[in-house]
Amino acid sequence: MSNSSKSKNKKPVILTGDRPTGPLHLGHYVGSLLNRVSMQETHEQFILVADLQALTDNAENPEKVSSNVLEVVTDYLAVGIDPKKTSIVLQSQVPDIALLSMILSNLVSVSRVERNPTVKEELRQKGIDREIPLGFFSYPVSQAADITAFKATVVPVGQDQLPMIEITNEIVRRFNRIYNCNVLMEAEAVVPKVGRLPGIDGKAKMSKSLGNAINLKSSSKEIENAVKQMFTDPGHLRITDPGKVEGNVVFDYLDVFDAEKDVLKELKAQYKKGGLGDTTIKKRLNGILQDLISPIREERTRLENDKAEVIKVIEAGTRKANEVVSETLQEVRSAMGINYGSNWSKYKRHE
Ligand code: TRP
Repeated sequence: MSNSSKSKNKKPVILTGDRPTGPLHLGHYVGSLLNRVSMQETHEQFILVADLQALTDNAENPEKVSSNVLEVVTDYLAVGIDPKKTSIVLQSQVPDIALLSMILSNLVSVSRVERNPTVKEELRQKGIDREIPLGFFSYPVSQAADITAFKATVVPVGQDQLPMIEITNEIVRRFNRIYNCNVLMEAEAVVPKVGRLPGIDGKAKMSKSLGNAINLKSSSKEIENAVKQMFTDPGHLRITDPGKVEGNVVFDYLDVFDAEKDVLKELKAQYKKGGLGDTTIKKRLNGILQDLISPIREERTRLENDKAEVIKVIEAGTRKANEVVSETLQEVRSAMGINYGSNWSKYKRHE
């Protein structure tokens, strides 16, 4: 990038990403996608399809990762992420990120990674402790490389990823101190306001692995069935019984998706008092979700029939990423004094 194009580009840089291991769902929609659609207006945004990171715990089924790359990017485009404003980047096609990751891995200790709460929790869930792949263990470092390679200063992430940003900033400070430079930038985590959408079963998190998600590519029938199955208030047996609104998934969703807040307030009051059936509120929610998802599904179908367009978007975003990242790597090499190619004579030993 030339200096003139650099000075034109004053917007703060966002780097965010997803592991492509399955289709995106409503939890992603409210937790990150909507935020990305609005942030692309005010920021220089890069979204990383983190296929290498996804391989850290899927090495034995790489096709689970590779077959979901187009899937996830199709979801991005269908919800309104605009490739003219956002660069969609395929991680494995930007090799300099991996190089930076290797350099940064020397700046963080094993015990520091072990103390990372995100890693700790993931280890606990996987229950495989020290048998985890080394690459999985060190993914906080590779994520630090993702962020710093783009000189991102804003990183929108879920609450559970906050320790990742913390460790990134520690590495940044360490790098800049040791190599006496200002090459890497500290980043600020931004947690979107809308909290987590529970799964349809009432579990705290909507997740494809728990099988409690509504996908953006769900058919109309699938949405209807999911709403039918939604957890409500098990004590609300007859319509006339008073019902609980808290912990009632249908109301949790209406809180997020129902634009008519006055009507919703009224419905809640009625439900609590007794006299409002689950079928009525489910019907309302179903209508709202159908209206929300149907244009997304339509755009998805169009894109599925034009895969070449989706591929072009990935290629263009990845090309741009390679330009930006290779600049950072030049600076990193200079700061460390390992930019051999540019001036070999510097490295001659003086007798
Ligand atoms: N770890 C993130 C997730 O599991 C994905 C990710 C990879 C990411 N690299 C990133 C997020 C860089 C933010 C910044 O969803």
